[in-house]
Amino acid sequence: SKAMRFIADQLIPWQKTSGRHDLPWQQKYDPYAVWLSEVMLQQTQVGTVIPYFQRFISKFPDIGSLAQASIDDVLASWSGLGYYSRARNLHRTARMIVHEFHGIFPQSREALQQLPGIGRSTAAAIAVFAFGQRDAILDGNVKRIFARFFGIDRYSGQSETLTKMWRLAEESLPQHGNPDELKVYTQALMDLGATVCVRNRPLCGQCPLRTRCVAYIQDRVALLPVSKPR
Ligand code: ADE
Repeated sequence: SKAMRFIADQLIPWQKTSGRHDLPWQQKYDPYAVWLSEVMLQQTQVGTVIPYFQRFISKFPDIGSLAQASIDDVLASWSGLGYYSRARNLHRTARMIVHEFHGIFPQSREALQQLPGIGRSTAAAIAVFAFGQRDAILDGNVKRIFARFFGIDRYSGQSETLTKMWRLAEESLPQHGNPDELKVYTQALMDLGATVCVRNRPLCGQCPLRTRCVAYIQDRVALLPVSKPR
């Protein structure tokens, strides 16, 4: 529909002028680097992740070196990042990929989602960035963008609301075409959520979606997304 197409039409040029282009995991779109960065970024902000990512990838430059490492070495490199189950899952996954998949990463979102510690949105991000697949992401930042843009005034942890958001995320993808556009679109959603459509004091004056954003038009930006009911 028109509102759906508007999002991609606005976000793709915005990403080219105003998005982030110099993140270390954007340099090559190597599946190992993409996977590692997406796992680190699950619960940790970009600025914190960058030095950890660079040190980790210097120590363990590929999936084989990670699979061969001891868990203690992996945990030592993770030390300070928190949520250590991520490091344990990463190590388990590296061993699985080397020993069960002949060192080849699964390429579909569905197969990536079977790996330990990889949920639907992380699997989709890896599928898009590393393999050029057409999948929708829906992390916390993207839920906030959609709650505001579409004026969703229900808690996104509620299953019907979550289902609706996934449907909107799928329907908002750019039309079939250049897979690079899908990478640009996906990175744009992440960057808009991290830099403009932030939770507190969003920078609506800089937002490429504001002319059709329900929350902006109705002056309800500060009220959306609604927080967890208690
Ligand atoms: N958050 C999750 N994935 C990200 C990515 N690829 N770039 C920036 N922020 C992110």
